[in-house]
Amino acid sequence: MAREYGDVRVRVFSSADHALRCAADRIVDLIAEPAAQARGATLGLPTGRTPIGMYRELVARHRAGISFAGVTTFNLDEYHPIARDAAGSFRHFMREHFHDHVDIPPRQIHIPDGSLPAERVAAHCREYEQAIRASGGIDLQVLGIGSNGHIGFNEPASPRDSRTRLVELHGQTRLDNAAAFGGPELVPRHAITMGIGTILEGRALLVLAFGAAKAAAMRAALLGPIDESVPASLLRTHRQIEFLLDPAAAAGLDTGGGAVSA
Ligand code: PGA
Repeated sequence: MAREYGDVRVRVFSSADHALRCAADRIVDLIAEPAAQARGATLGLPTGRTPIGMYRELVARHRAGISFAGVTTFNLDEYHPIARDAAGSFRHFMREHFHDHVDIPPRQIHIPDGSLPAERVAAHCREYEQAIRASGGIDLQVLGIGSNGHIGFNEPASPRDSRTRLVELHGQTRLDNAAAFGGPELVPRHAITMGIGTILEGRALLVLAFGAAKAAAMRAALLGPIDESVPASLLRTHRQIEFLLDPAAAAGLDTGGGAVSA
């Protein structure tokens, strides 16, 4: 089922698995495009529970013969401070779920470095932005959303023109990610994240949200005001954006939403 909310396309799938296969299709289609093949496609990639099935599907496609050798990847975010090989790090997550199982050359893989001392982070963030520009910009940015409406680690009240930077994580975010660290107090207090401005420069955006815990954030993002208090609502200012949801995440979109056009 597909609906339009202004310029935003929302597709509600029968299951998260179905949506995740569709996300993998989008990526495989993109890297097969002649223009993308000629210069190498650039992907912006998320971590978290949401995209794990998408990576599983991409690894299966690779085993079936699809090459990712021309692809460049930029991850949205990383905790700070965190050791590069720490089990809770997003670098570790990406190796476990994707990068160790496909043929992307290591020099084409970019993840913010959460192991740098604080005084070197600002320069690293500038270099990260430069590397995105040098790659030709992100062709497809895949995103999850936080239960508090964050995108990447841009928490509520993040400026809409923000760039890659060090941020403080909200208590809710540390709670949501406690399992990976063995308790909320063990989740790092800070993170490096692409900014909202950085994210919005992607040529196309694909947002994934599944489960009842995302329903309120999805409702605020799609039906509420476009406002920095809900970072995901700022995505509606992008002209090439699609949300892929399961029924539970879409549950709040049907009730009392007079603004919804089915
Ligand atoms: P999740 O996180 O996929 O683990 O729910 C999403 C996010 O915080 O962006």
